[in-house]
Amino acid sequence: MEVVTLADPAEIGSVAADSIVDLLVRKPDAVLGLATGSSPLAIYDALAARVDAGSVSFAQARGFTLDEYVGLPADHPERYRTVIDNVFVAKVDFAPGAVQSPDGLAQDIPAACAAYEQAIQDAGGIDLQILGIGTDGHIAFNEPGSSLASRTRIKTLTRQTRIDNARFFGGDIDAVPTHCLTQGLGTIMAARHLILVASGRSKAEAVHHLVEGPVSAMWPATILQHHPHVTVLLDDAAARRLQLIDYYRETYRAKPDWQGI
Ligand code: GLP
Repeated sequence: MEVVTLADPAEIGSVAADSIVDLLVRKPDAVLGLATGSSPLAIYDALAARVDAGSVSFAQARGFTLDEYVGLPADHPERYRTVIDNVFVAKVDFAPGAVQSPDGLAQDIPAACAAYEQAIQDAGGIDLQILGIGTDGHIAFNEPGSSLASRTRIKTLTRQTRIDNARFFGGDIDAVPTHCLTQGLGTIMAARHLILVASGRSKAEAVHHLVEGPVSAMWPATILQHHPHVTVLLDDAAARRLQLIDYYRETYRAKPDWQGI
């Protein structure tokens, strides 16, 4: 796991965007894993700016989002599919239909989850997955106690996650759905490169467990310690509880520019 501390969310976004641009130059039809939440917004802004500048194109790329609330109507502004369309897909040049999401309105939820797994597999798997992290250590919506080998399925949201996300629902926790569909930890682990971004003090405990804690379903993100290519991009506030922070900084400083993340 490579841990990199950067000045602020804008720099985090720029470093992550560079890596995605490099991937698209090498492999224009790359498959990207897209996350919602506030943490990846700077990445999407940086990528949109690069598309506007003509330095990258998503015309041949495909995307899969991580998760979706169950039961939010198609026109709800906080439906993750709507959010990702607004904050990213509409700002770049994906071909129509190139980005898929779990169907939170499906009648047959197990079938919809199985179909989503199949679609990812049929696309050749995810080359690069963007991730945020919840304050309780969840990635996507894999809450504490999730199977470390789980695949796309329905999950019940914890009260903590519903409190955290109430800010997107006018501060009303009762307006936050109780269930979601989410890629599993096993699904995420199958992606070839994972970039997890986190900023702010509220993420420091989860980041500490992610990087330095024992692997445990109580802190689901810790499963990433078993992945061969994970990059964790942090600001100082999110990194403040890391015991080996000086070592991570020294390692990154000494890295040759050509190596990327
Ligand atoms: C949400 C999403 C996650 C996201 C996390 C953190 O619940 N399902 O994918 O990483 O919360 O969100 P934020 O980046 O807004 O703090």
